[in-house]
Amino acid sequence: MDIRKITVFGGIGKNGEPENVERFDLKMGDIISIVGPTGCGKTTLINDIELFANCNTPSKRKVLINDETIPEDFSFDPKEHPIALISQYTNFLSDLPVGEFLKIHATVRGAENIEQIIAETLEFANQLTGEAIIRNTAMTELSGGQTRSLLIADAVIIGNSPIILLDEIENAGINRTKALELLKNYKKIFVFVTHDPRIALLSDFRIVMKSGSMQKLIRTNQEETLAAGELKKIDDIVLHFRGLIRAGEEISELVLRESIQSLAK
Ligand SMILES: Nc1ncnc2c1ncn2[C@@H]1O[C@H](COP(=O)(O)OP(=O)(O)OP(=O)(O)O)[C@@H](O)[C@H]1O
Ligand SMILES: [Mg+2]
Repeated sequence: MDIRKITVFGGIGKNGEPENVERFDLKMGDIISIVGPTGCGKTTLINDIELFANCNTPSKRKVLINDETIPEDFSFDPKEHPIALISQYTNFLSDLPVGEFLKIHATVRGAENIEQIIAETLEFANQLTGEAIIRNTAMTELSGGQTRSLLIADAVIIGNSPIILLDEIENAGINRTKALELLKNYKKIFVFVTHDPRIALLSDFRIVMKSGSMQKLIRTNQEETLAAGELKKIDDIVLHFRGLIRAGEEISELVLRESIQSLAK
């Protein structure tokens, strides 16, 4: 299916009132974020997108692809399903080795050079994880962060899905800066549910949620892009120190102060 555009029409929030944001459009290549406090309905919104809701979910939202609704009884050929959702809580039931899992998926998707595509997927995933995913490891033995890294790589490379929905990747402790950098090389629609200001400010726009309702749509303007550049410097320091802590180093106030000072220059 050739996806050019998705449109989401607002429905109702938890209190039954119509949503402030009446509609938004996503074009190929757009990156957007969904932000808001815990329990405000972020996951619900991306689930509506994944289901191609047609006023048939509690939020009564409606989703169009290329300006058309998807009939309720329509089911995509799994090979061509346009959406990949990397959910907030992921557990594998299959104890297949990672390589086998990827091989089956690549075969179902009709990939041509299966060995190459598996290698590429693992390489992508391993740029996001702290400890590399080994091909013979059972899927059930992967950590939370490794699992999500593998699922992202699998959705982008093997699944080749044009629309990718990611629910809070930062909580899995994966390298989100690297993830954004890698993902930007692929022309897709990316929807991030995030609490991370850096991801939000790197998006084309963000939807602010409250009480199950889309309150506001904010486009990232030049001012915010500049602020994002500054924020990146601060964030890089935090990430650097996180790396040191993870590696078992001890931290001194002096080193921290020096880092902040060099940032101010
Ligand atoms: N528009 C809505 N109408 C009715 N119920 C809703 C609506 N939006 C969300 N809810 C309900 O509110 C609850 C919390 O929503 P959800 O899990 O989407 O929040 P969240 O923002 O993803 O939270 P977290 O940050 O903890 O992941 C769910 O039970 C969901 O069904
Ligand atoms: Mg959620």
